This record gives sequence, C-alpha cells and structure tokens, in this order.
Amino acid sequence: MISDELERYLQEHSSPPCETLRNLERKTYLETLFPRMMSGHIQGKFLEMISFMIRPLRILEIGTFTGYGAVSLAKGLPENGLLVTIEQNRELEDTIREVLDKAGLSAKVNLILGNARHEIEQLDDTFDLVFIDADKENYSLYYDLVFDKVKQGGFILADNVLWSQKVIDPQFNDVETKAMREFNKKVAGDERVEQVLLPMRDGLMLIRKI
Ligand SMILES: C[S@@+](CC[C@H](N)C(=O)[O-])C[C@H]1O[C@@H](n2cnc3c(N)ncnc32)[C@H](O)[C@@H]1O
Repeated sequence: MISDELERYLQEHSSPPCETLRNLERKTYLETLFPRMMSGHIQGKFLEMISFMIRPLRILEIGTFTGYGAVSLAKGLPENGLLVTIEQNRELEDTIREVLDKAGLSAKVNLILGNARHEIEQLDDTFDLVFIDADKENYSLYYDLVFDKVKQGGFILADNVLWSQKVIDPQFNDVETKAMREFNKKVAGDERVEQVLLPMRDGLMLIRKI
C-alpha cells in the first residue's frame, strides 16, 4: 500500500483522466459497494498507455465492473480494433453501456454479460492483450482458458496479484490469498512466457507469450 500523500503526488504528475472517466469514478464511489475494485486514475492511465503501445486489434477483459478498465484499454485500440469484456453482474450493465457511449467507444466494445468461465470457452477469436481482473480464485483457470487464444507475442495482464501484500505474509491462508500465490507461482514456472510482477497498486503481472 502506498501513502495517500504519494498517491496524490502520482496523480498530480500523471495526465488527468478524461471527464467521462472522472465522472465514472465519482459514480462508482457513490453507487457501488466496493469502489476500490475499479482501476482508477493511475492504473487506468497505465492500461491506456499499454494499449497505445501494443496497438492491439483484439483485447479481452475478464471482469468489467463499472467499465473504467474497459474504457482505458479501448482508448488505445486502432480504428478496426475490438475489446471484448465479460461481466457477470447484470446490475452493472446500464452503467457500463452509459460510460462506453459517453466515451464514444460503444462500437469498439463487445460487452458479454455472463460467467467468464463459461463465456471464455465460447469465444472464437484470438487476442493481442488479455486483462484478467475478475474473481481471484479462478485466475489460474482463466490463464489456462485464455492461453491458446493469446497470439504468439501477445500479452496477459493480471491485476491484484499481491492481494494487499498477503501473498508474502504466511499468516494469511484464505482461499483468495492461496489462489494468488498459486497463480504467481504457475506463471513464474511457465516456460512459454516471460513476465514481470510490478508493484503497481495491488500488484500487476505483465506476461508476454513467447
Ligand atoms: C476488480 S473488478 C473489475 C475492475 C475493472 N476491470 C476495472 O479495471 O475497473 C472485478 C469484476 O469481476 C466481476 N466478476 C467476478 N467473478 C466473475 C466471473 N466469474 N465472471 C465474470 N465476471 C466476474 C465482478 O462482478 C466485478 O465486477
């Protein structure tokens, strides 16, 4: 965890979010129970930068929440690019569609409402970039399910891999902490990829399929 002071400094020295994302952040804090699930300013800008760097034709996001990550990633898509995003909570649909519309990105985003475990298997596409950001217990499963759908040289980003730093504290052995440790170990031992674990926010693993 970084201090509020450092967070403020990071924000002051990073480009500000667009008005649509600023309003989405406010709305997410006002209307949802766990607003901290949202990517937010710094991570959102990082996702946007990554997307601009890779210029992916196809992005898959697992876990949309209110759409902050989806908008950030979709901003970097080229004209003919598409982001597929999967969210199981149907109550979020109106918020997601509204923000995509306001950001002018509705045509570039395919929102799938359903359980990622089932929906990923139905996808008949390959991806340049996959952002895993749904239920932590299933990260390893999602990694296995998407792996063959990631193009060679493509990237997988996994959020929250430090899980409030519980992964390095042996007193925590809850299901989610154990799942994150297993996921990190699995990726670190996978010779088909190279990866870097960044201490951004709650830990972001950037994986490249070799
Ligand atoms: C951390 S939030 C996603 C944040 C978002 N990616 C962002 O960048 O702002 C996790 C989301 O995953 C969704 N989720 C959890 N389990 C899921 C599943 N099995 N299938 C699809 N979505 C799921 C939750 O409802 C929640 O909205």
